[in-house]
Amino acid sequence: KTVFVLNGPNLNLLGTREPAVYGAATLADVEKLCADACERHGFALRFHQSNHEGALVDWIHEAGRLHAAGELAGVVINAGAYTHTSIALHDATKGTGITLIELHISNVHAREAFRHHSYMAAAAKAVMCGFGVLGYGLAIDGLAQLLAQQPA
Ligand code: DQA
Repeated sequence: KTVFVLNGPNLNLLGTREPAVYGAATLADVEKLCADACERHGFALRFHQSNHEGALVDWIHEAGRLHAAGELAGVVINAGAYTHTSIALHDATKGTGITLIELHISNVHAREAFRHHSYMAAAAKAVMCGFGVLGYGLAIDGLAQLLAQQPA
């Protein structure tokens, strides 16, 4: 099965963007971490980043088509600031019925009030935040455990 890891706006700047908040790892480091986690579980990985909301919607739809074909493990999404603004990403997730994990590198609840509300959360299976980039690997491990619990 395939895991989609989707990254939203400004995550291409990881490593140089506010390192005190987001750490020193680059997006390429995160991709490697995800590839290793997927390999551990025998998942294929689709790893993407875009600064454009519609591109993220399109990838969720693509994941939805794999889901319908029984070929999707789930989607891990760090939607960045779109988390706090995007009804479109919420609707895409609901509309496809995919298993989606919302992820944040930082603990958004310990930050500014405008980061406390998420449009993604109500459409998500689970929310992971505050583990730094380690959260990506943990989220993929979590998807594997959820799948293992499902009746064959
Ligand atoms: C983030 C938190 C968001 O509030 C912010 O807009 C980001 C990154 C995180 O990974 O901690 O771009 O999603």
